[in-house]
Amino acid sequence: MNGRDLVRSVKAVGSVGSVQGLRTVRAAWRRRRADAGGLPRRGAERARVPGVVRDAEPGPGGGVVLFDRSELRVLVTVQGAVFWGWDGAGPEPSYALAGRCPEPDPRAVLEPDKDGGWRVVAERFTVAVSRHGAVELRTPGGVPLRRDAPPRWWEPVDGGPGRWMQRSQVAPDARFFGLGGRAAGPRLRDGTYRLWNTDPGGSFAPGDDPLYITMPVQMVVADAGTHLVFHDSSWDGTVTLREGEEGAGSGHDRAGRSEVRMDGGPLRCWAVVGSPARALLGWASLTGAPALPPAWALGHHHARWGFGTEREVRRVVAGYREHGLPLDAVHLDIDHFDAHQVFTVDRERFPDLPRLAAELRRDGIRLVSIVDPAVRAAAGNAVYDSGSDLDAFVRDAAGRVVEGVVWPGESVYPDFTHPRVRKWWGGLYAERLAQGFAGFWHDMNEPTSFTAFGESTLPRSARHCLDGRDGDHREAHNVYALCMARAAYEGLRELAPQERPFCFSRAGWAGMQRYGGTWSGDVSTGWPGLRASLALVLGMGLSGVPYSGPDVGGFDGSPSPELFLRWFQMAAYLPLFRTHSSLEAGRREPWEFGPEVLRHARGALLERRRLLPYFVTLAHLARRTGAPYVRPLWWHTPEDRALRDCDDAFLLGDCLLVAPVLAPGTERRAVRLPRGRWYDTVTGLPHDGPGRVLVDAPVERIPVFARAGAVLAVRGADGGPELEAWAPARGRTGGGLVVADAGDGWDEPEIERYVTRWEGPRVVVERHGEDGVHEPSLPVRLRGADQAGDQT
Ligand code: NOJ
Repeated sequence: MNGRDLVRSVKAVGSVGSVQGLRTVRAAWRRRRADAGGLPRRGAERARVPGVVRDAEPGPGGGVVLFDRSELRVLVTVQGAVFWGWDGAGPEPSYALAGRCPEPDPRAVLEPDKDGGWRVVAERFTVAVSRHGAVELRTPGGVPLRRDAPPRWWEPVDGGPGRWMQRSQVAPDARFFGLGGRAAGPRLRDGTYRLWNTDPGGSFAPGDDPLYITMPVQMVVADAGTHLVFHDSSWDGTVTLREGEEGAGSGHDRAGRSEVRMDGGPLRCWAVVGSPARALLGWASLTGAPALPPAWALGHHHARWGFGTEREVRRVVAGYREHGLPLDAVHLDIDHFDAHQVFTVDRERFPDLPRLAAELRRDGIRLVSIVDPAVRAAAGNAVYDSGSDLDAFVRDAAGRVVEGVVWPGESVYPDFTHPRVRKWWGGLYAERLAQGFAGFWHDMNEPTSFTAFGESTLPRSARHCLDGRDGDHREAHNVYALCMARAAYEGLRELAPQERPFCFSRAGWAGMQRYGGTWSGDVSTGWPGLRASLALVLGMGLSGVPYSGPDVGGFDGSPSPELFLRWFQMAAYLPLFRTHSSLEAGRREPWEFGPEVLRHARGALLERRRLLPYFVTLAHLARRTGAPYVRPLWWHTPEDRALRDCDDAFLLGDCLLVAPVLAPGTERRAVRLPRGRWYDTVTGLPHDGPGRVLVDAPVERIPVFARAGAVLAVRGADGGPELEAWAPARGRTGGGLVVADAGDGWDEPEIERYVTRWEGPRVVVERHGEDGVHEPSLPVRLRGADQAGDQT
C-alpha cells in the first residue's frame, strides 16, 4: 500500500464508524484473497514492436498495412474522423461509440508513400504510416499535428492480455486538455494522469488525481490546428504529458510529448481534426449526442446530505420562498433511504414523499433522488432479492458474489455490463417515479467500496459480462458507471416516455454524455476548490460532456461568506447550478451568510433565471453539435496562444464571457479578452480584444461581457421571452441562435437565426430563415448602440 492509499484508508475507516471500520477491514482482505486466486500472476513478458512494413491491403476508407509483427488498420469515416488500430483491432466493440462504427469514406484510399511507407489522404488531414510503424497525422498542407512513434507491447510469455505503450509528439506550442475530470486543469501541465475512476475518499483539491471520471480523450490545441484523440481501451493506464518549448528563434524547439500506457485492451485510436468546435462535433457524432436536460434542470438546485426529515426540506424550501430566491429542484441524499438502502424510503422521517413531491411540483420545484449502485446484501431487501433471483450481482473468479462495503454496510454490485441486469435496474426507477422524483443523481459508481487498505473498489479479478464478451474488473471498472447511466436512461425512456430523463453521474467514461451529465464530486471548501471546480467543468466539456457543475460552497466545512458568494456567482453561469454539502458541513442556504450575501446571491439567482432561455438554447446546441455550454476562452481563436494558458475565465456559449472571482479580497480583476469587441454587461462599456483589461469586480457581481453583435434569448421583466441584442462594432455584423422549447418532451424546436447589422445610424436585428429575412419573432432590447463608436 502506498502512502496515498494509507491516507485514504484511514479516512474511510475513520469516517464511517467502528462497525463499518471492521467491515472495511474484512472487505479489504476479501478483495485481496479474491485477487490472489483470481488474477493471472504477472510473469515473464515478451516485448514487441511492429517491425518493418511488408505489404498493404487497401480497403474502404483506408486499408490494412502489414508489418513483420503486427498489422495496422486505418479507416477514415464519412464524418471525417480517422481510426487506426494495431494488431488488426477494429473500432468495435466499444463502450464509447454511440452505435455502429460510422461508414467509411469511399474517397479515402491507402496509397504508397515515400520511403516505403503508406498514407491515406482525406479531406481534412493526411495519415502517413512509416515503414517502421510511426503514424503521423498532418494537416492538408502537410504540417504535422501528431506523430505516434511505433508502439510497444509487453505480452505475458504464457498468454493473456498484454500491456502497451504509445509515445507521441505534438508541436512545441501545443497545449493539452481533456482526459475527463481533472482538478488541476483545464490546461493539463506536465505530469502523469491516471486512467482509473477513483473516489478520492474525502474532499479533493487541485493536486488530487485521479478523480471519479477518467477518459483517454485528449484535446490538443496548437497553431497548426486542433485535434482530439481517443485511445479506446477502458483498462487501467496512465497518460504522461510534457508540454513542448520553443527555442526563441534558436531553432532548438522541443516537441510536446504524450505517452499513453495501458495495462490491456486493444491499441486503437480515433482522431478528429479541425477547429475545437469541429473536433467536438466529430466526437459527438462518434460517441453520441449529449442528452437534452429538461428546462427545470437548468435552474437552481439545492441539495444537502442530511436534510434528515421532510420537515427540514419544507423549512429550506420556505426559506427560499420567503427570501425571494428562485428554486427549481431539491435533491435528497442517502439519508432519505431506509437504512441507506437504494430504492427505499425512511417512512418515519419521510412519511409521505409523493405528497411532498406534488406540493413542491405545484410551486415549480422538482425532487431529485440520489441513486447508489451498491445494494445492501440482506434477504428481505427487495432490490437484493430480485437482483439475486436474476443473478444480477458481480461474482469473483471462484463464483462467489463479491461483497463490498458502502453506506448500507455489506453490499453487492449489479453487473451493469450485462444487458439483462441493465433492464432490471432500469425498471427499478418506477419506484422512484412513484415517490414523485423527477431526476436522478448517480453516486459511488466508480464503483466504490470502502476499504481499510488498498483500492477502494471491487477486486480486479471480479467477473463481468461485458455484453457477452466476458471479462474482469480490470476492463469493466472504468465503464461501470457508464453502463449504470445507460440502464437508468433506457429504463426512464420506457417508464416516462414523454419526459426527458434527467440523470447525472459522479463517475463515467467516454460517451457518458448520451445519458446525462456529471458534477464535481466532493470538491473541498476553499479558494483552491473553487478553481478546481471550474477546471472540472471546462475539462469535462472538452471531453464531450457539456452538462456539469460543482457543489456550490464546496462539499465539506464552512465557506466564508465571501467564498460562498463568489462560488455562487460563478456557478450561476455553469450548466448545473447546485448547492450541496456533506453531512457534517456548515449551512449552505444563502440567507445563512448575512444580508449582504443574501442580497447578492439573489442577484445571481435572478440573473440565472433571466438567462434561462439562453441556457435552453445552449442545451439544444450542445445536443446538435457537441459544443459545451462552457468553453475555454480560446474556443473561437485557438491560435491566440495567450488564451490557451488562461484558465480563470470562460465563454458561456458564443455570446457571453464570464470572469469569476477566484481569490479573496478581489475588487478588480484582469480579464484576457479574445479578439473582437466585448461589452461589460453592467456598465455597457466596450473593450476591444485581443488583450487584457482591468475591470471592477465588486462584491455584488462578477464581470460578464457580451460579444459585440450577439443576440441571445432571455426572460423579460414580465417573464416572457425577449431578445437581448448587442450592437456590432461599426461596419461589422453579428448574430446569434435561439432555440425555444417547451421545457420538456421531444418536439424538435426550430433554430432561429438572428443577424445584427448597422443601417446608417441605427442597428437592425433580423431573423434569417430559409424563406427569407423577417422581423424578429420576439421583442428586442438593444444594448451598446450608443457606445459602439467608443473604444477603450
Ligand atoms: C458522496 C457524494 O459525492 C456526495 O455528493 C454525497 O453527498 C455523499 N456521497 C453521500 O451520499
